[in-house]
Amino acid sequence: MSLLLTGLDDYLLSSLPPRDAVLSRMEAEAARRRIPIVGPAVGRLLAQYARLIGARRVFELGSAIGYSTIWLARAAGPDGHVFYTDGSEENAAEARRNVEEAGVADRVTILVGDALTRLDETDGEFDLIFNDVDKEGYPDVLRRAVPRLRVGGLLVTDNVLWDGRLRLPPCEDDAETAAIREFNRLCYAHPDLETTIIPLRDGVSVARRLR
Ligand SMILES: C[S@@+](CC[C@H](N)C(=O)[O-])C[C@H]1O[C@@H](n2cnc3c(N)ncnc32)[C@H](O)[C@@H]1O
Repeated sequence: MSLLLTGLDDYLLSSLPPRDAVLSRMEAEAARRRIPIVGPAVGRLLAQYARLIGARRVFELGSAIGYSTIWLARAAGPDGHVFYTDGSEENAAEARRNVEEAGVADRVTILVGDALTRLDETDGEFDLIFNDVDKEGYPDVLRRAVPRLRVGGLLVTDNVLWDGRLRLPPCEDDAETAAIREFNRLCYAHPDLETTIIPLRDGVSVARRLR
């Protein structure tokens, strides 16, 4: 799942400070059960951006077992709040146990169902929205999530380089690759967004709402 040469990715991962018992256990379980979590390098990036902008209200689109949720909830601090979403009841039950073990259950709301529908149903604006849903939904996420950010807020999106399938010259796009390509194009063309793509792990895009 990395665009980087294997050795570089291994170096980055081996350089990271150790995680606590909960995150370490979740990383091991995700590897064993092939759950596609962001992993510790992107987890740190999420937490760093959240802290840089003083994020207090965070909405997560596609949260699985709550690994990225825990990074974001810790960064948001005791006065912050993270809305978890996932389409799977089983994932949500597991995430509930994980956020409790991580000591952040009081600042996490678990919502089950379609992530964008749950976003539409949740009032207020957000400092940071983290997008990690099924890739064909990415263009729709852009349309519906950006208006929910405060000015200065961030839409952070995982997998925007999609395992090296977004490259030049382009290869034949499947539906997921085409949707991510369109998402990246729309982000860079958006007059209200300042976007960068960070080639960390599978590619992370950070789009800041300007106005
Ligand atoms: C890549 S995993 C999320 C990993 C999580 N962000 C992490 O790093 O710990 C994607 C998750 O999003 C959920 N999902 C995908 N599309 C969704 C949608 N439209 N609405 C709600 N959940 C969705 C899937 O069930 C899956 O658990």
